[in-house]
This record gives sequence, C-alpha cells and structure tokens, in this order.
Amino acid sequence: MQTAPGEQPTFKVVQVGCGNMARKWTAYAAQRADMAIVALVDIHRPAAEAMAETLGLGPEHCFTDLETAVKASGANLVFDVTIPQVHKDIVMTAAALGCDVMGEKPMAASMADAETMMRAVERHGRSYAVMQNRRYTRQIREARGLIAGGAIGRPGFATANFFLGPHFGGFREAMDNPLLLDMAIHTFDQARYLLQADPVSVYCHEFNPAHSWYDGNAAAVCVFEMSDGSVFTYNGSWCAEGAPTSWEGEWRINGSRGTLIWDGTNPPYASAIGEDEEPGRFSRELTRLDPAEPYTGREGHDGCFDEMLAALRERRRAETDCTDNIHSMAMVFGAIRSAREGRRIPLAARD
Ligand SMILES: NC(=O)c1ccc[n+]([C@@H]2O[C@H](COP(=O)([O-])OP(=O)(O)OC[C@H]3O[C@@H](n4cnc5c(N)ncnc54)[C@H](O)[C@@H]3O)[C@@H](O)[C@H]2O)c1
Repeated sequence: MQTAPGEQPTFKVVQVGCGNMARKWTAYAAQRADMAIVALVDIHRPAAEAMAETLGLGPEHCFTDLETAVKASGANLVFDVTIPQVHKDIVMTAAALGCDVMGEKPMAASMADAETMMRAVERHGRSYAVMQNRRYTRQIREARGLIAGGAIGRPGFATANFFLGPHFGGFREAMDNPLLLDMAIHTFDQARYLLQADPVSVYCHEFNPAHSWYDGNAAAVCVFEMSDGSVFTYNGSWCAEGAPTSWEGEWRINGSRGTLIWDGTNPPYASAIGEDEEPGRFSRELTRLDPAEPYTGREGHDGCFDEMLAALRERRRAETDCTDNIHSMAMVFGAIRSAREGRRIPLAARD
C-alpha cells in the first residue's frame, strides 16, 4: 500500500538484517499505508541492495551500519531481523537514537543481554516488542478462549510434547542448545500465553540422543512451576524421526473441571465434567466443549505485527513487549542453566 503523495508515513522504518526472515517483515510494511521502509542495513551490503531492488529503492537507501542509516533517513522505528547474537547491539543502538524497535525472537543470546536491553529501552523511553508469531494462530487463541471461559476450571497441570526431525544443516546443527534456544522459546511462550502465568522455577534434563545428527543437545525434558500454582512439563526433541507432532506442539492442560486437548493441528476442545455432576462420584459424565468465540484476527507474523503496531499507535505495551517476553527468555536460559548445573533453578519474577 502506498502513502498518498505529500503525506508522511507515521512509521519511518530502518530494517536491519536482509536475510531469509527479512522478506516477511518488508512484506508487512508494504501492506500498511502508515509505514514506509526508508533504509535497509546489512553487514553484507549486497544483501541490503538485493532487497532494496525488490522494494524499488535505490542503493542510496542501503547501509552497513544502523547509526548512519537512522541519522541519514530520519527513521523512528527499527525492525531487527538479524541473528540472535546481534540483537543486543541493534536494540541498544536504536533506542539510544530515539527509535522504537520490533525484532525477531529470541530477544538475545543470553539472559544478561536480554535484561540489559530491557533496561536500556526503558531508560530511553522507547518500546521494544518481540515477534512471537506462534501466539497468533486461530487455534491457540481459541484454546486460550476455552480456558479463559472456564471450560476446564483452574489449570493445574499442562504438558507439551514436541517431537520433530528436521535436517536443517547450517548453524543449528553446530549450536550448543539448538532445541532450547532456537525452538523451545516458542513453546515456552505459548505455555505462558495459554496459562496466563509466569515461571517460578525450572528443572531441566537436556541431552543429545545417540542417533542425533546435531552437535549440541537436541532433546530436553523440563518441569516448570508456574506463578498460578500449576506445573508445566515439556518433552521435546528435534532429532525425532517418525510420528511427528505439530510445530505448535501437542498440548494437554488439565484443570479442576476438565482437560483441554490441542494437538497443534486440529481445533482445540475441552473434555469436562457437566455442570450438575455430583462431586465425589467415582467417575463422572464428561461433556465435549468446543471454542465458543472464533478468533477473527490475522494469524502468525501478521497477527503479531498487527498487535505490535496497534500498541505503538496507542502508546501501550504490546502483548509481546520485552518486559513480558523476558519471562519466556527466563524459561529458556533457566532450563539451560538447570541442565548444566543439574539442579532446580528458581526464576525470579520480574516486572
Ligand atoms: N519467528 C519465527 O518463526 C522465525 C523463524 C526463523 C528465524 N527467525 C529469527 O529471525 C532472525 C533472522 O533469521 P534469518 O533466518 O533471517 O537469518 P539469516 O542468516 O538468513 O539473516 C540474517 C541477516 O542478518 C545480517 N546480519 C548479521 N549481523 C548483522 C549486523 N551486525 N548488522 C546488520 N546485519 C547483520 C546477515 O548478514 C543476514 O543477511 C533470527 O533471530 C531468527 O531466530 C524467526
């Protein structure tokens, strides 16, 4: 969508990182009348130039350094689509230059970096929201709707199974913690969304099955205590050939009145005891409950973008603002630390 002649877009965007995922971000900007990509940055300049060409921008809009790009373009928003190890530098630089930031997951490559970034953004009075696209599928929204509507009563025990065997090649097969760091952030963030609770502690056993084709640990079992008193357990493997689960995970959440089932592919439903079932009977009649409220928002990246932009316009914190996302990061880095130290790790609540 084009801005009308003479009209200034509200959001003047510098996009940093012009690799694979970057195309999703520029495509979103192109849909909005209130947004324009004004500069592209990549340490590998040809990547920025190739992307600029697809957007009809000249090479004068391409840079290898964020600070120069922001100063030259007068941008007020930065899209960070670089690799995790670089997110800290990008976010810190952007906020110091007065820009708001939206960036790809994971926030950072360490918990200390994520905390430093969050504090810097706050100090500069800017916002930083993180892409957690797996919170924005119709099915997970409707699963949450069932829980929020009381279908299963008070959640007490949630489990997610994640078993897939992708052969990525490249950096993931050389990473120390490929499953926990690169993928489980999504599942952990989904657990926080479904339960509307934050982690209190974690115990994790991370391992690399003998048949694994990864250098680092490609499997993990985690037990999280959550702030609502529930327990969330995760069984995951990225080197599991056969009978794959969905990339969304396969969920069972048991509450005081029943159980939510979501296999990550088919619509979620609840199996719960009827309203007038007598307590204390050995076995009780169960009723199937389907989602009552359909989710009407957009899905995946677009759904998360829509929320991040609405929050920016309304000057409120986005659902995936860094101050929220830091709790999902705590689950990842707490699990890695627990596995390394062989003990339960308390995860302090953060505001
Ligand atoms: N949300 C999702 O489902 C999802 C899926 C895949 C990847 N991702 C995330 O997206 C991000 C990017 O992944 P990708 O697959 O596009 O990686 P990629 O390697 O294809 O692209 C990254 C780009 O960043 C550039 N870059 C690296 N360091 C830079 C720096 N200091 N300054 C400027 N540019 C720099 C690289 O040259 C490259 O062009 C990662 O954080 C990844 O975890 C998210």
